[in-house]
Amino acid sequence: WFGHVEPAAKDPILGVTEAFLADPSPDKVNVGVGAYRDDNGKPVVLECVREAERRIAGNLNMEYLPMGGSIKMIEESLKLAYGEDSDLIKEKRIAAVQALSGTGACRLFADFQKRFLPDTQIYIPIPTWANHHNIWRDACVPQRTFRYYHPETRGLDFASMMDDIKNAPNGSFFLLHACAHNPTGVDPSEEQWREISYQFKVKNHFPFFDMAYQGFASGDPNRDAKAIQIFLEDGHLIGCAQSYAKNMGLYGQRVGCLSILCEDELQAVAVKSQLQQLARPMYSNPPIHGALVVSIILGDPELKSLWLKEVKGMADRIIGMRKALREKLEKLGSPLSWEHITNQIGMFCYSGMTPEQVDRLTDEFHIYMTRNGRISMAGVTTGNVGYLANAIHEVTKA
Ligand code: LMR
Repeated sequence: WFGHVEPAAKDPILGVTEAFLADPSPDKVNVGVGAYRDDNGKPVVLECVREAERRIAGNLNMEYLPMGGSIKMIEESLKLAYGEDSDLIKEKRIAAVQALSGTGACRLFADFQKRFLPDTQIYIPIPTWANHHNIWRDACVPQRTFRYYHPETRGLDFASMMDDIKNAPNGSFFLLHACAHNPTGVDPSEEQWREISYQFKVKNHFPFFDMAYQGFASGDPNRDAKAIQIFLEDGHLIGCAQSYAKNMGLYGQRVGCLSILCEDELQAVAVKSQLQQLARPMYSNPPIHGALVVSIILGDPELKSLWLKEVKGMADRIIGMRKALREKLEKLGSPLSWEHITNQIGMFCYSGMTPEQVDRLTDEFHIYMTRNGRISMAGVTTGNVGYLANAIHEVTKA
């Protein structure tokens, strides 16, 4: 039966973690996957999460959640994305379901798009998180791309992006990173978001926001929802994938939210019921534990402010490591400019290193990262930043 099955290609991100784990070297460094580490290189469980777990302990039953997931978790998630006092929430115009983190939210949306808008395509930025391509491919939604990043300036290629938005057929679907773009760490400015939103209106495009790093761009989750706010002010209908993997450190809990803003409540009820119909044959209903943690934290003012403080702490440690890495490279006398390390934001630095240079980092220095040159700054620590800088200098000097 299975003789024709060839081994799958390694995942470009999670495959890096596998290779890192298999390396016995004591010097090894993992700056591959976007997963936050403390300054000792250890995974972090946030204090607000520990407190939420203490409150859950003993009170948890193991019942099924509804197909659409935890109502409370969804309510809190919508406030975080659409604004605390959003009229859209009061008017019940948003169809939303709990999702299996950001990936699950994107996939559910892609399946919804295929089922109900079968003639549409998705425009995906170049570059983007590798899994975006897999998600819309497996949902059988045709993909187009739009230009986003300028390799020379290591910044946004705004002019080309706007051209591609203008040249796409009216009513196209676009995938946008709401903040802290993965892998480039390059976001449009507020002014540029306004222009993008304006052009979307002119072209009647539909924006789908993947917001996997809310809080990691500015250190403040509310501020990081600014792009979405701008689109809402302009009266767009939008879709949004939210994830609590990074900003609550709930990676393995797989908790997130998919929301679709509709014309009115009636439409939202219909859309939500269809999202549930998509979920039922795939996983029936989502897991309960992470959803409870999120609802407890966001539903309690004290825990929520502790969470905001902790998100800021994570974002600040990363900013500190950006400064340290850049300084060390400059001190080593690198002839290259490393300004982009501190200009880029969020969890990643898109270093500009070639796949061959990355291979040398791995083979000669046991430093593991994705071959597109992305460095997960969340894996950089006071202890390894000097070693990392030295190795980068070795493979990039002429
Ligand atoms: C990443 O980009 O490293 C993260 O989003 C983890 C993943 O699932 O790829």
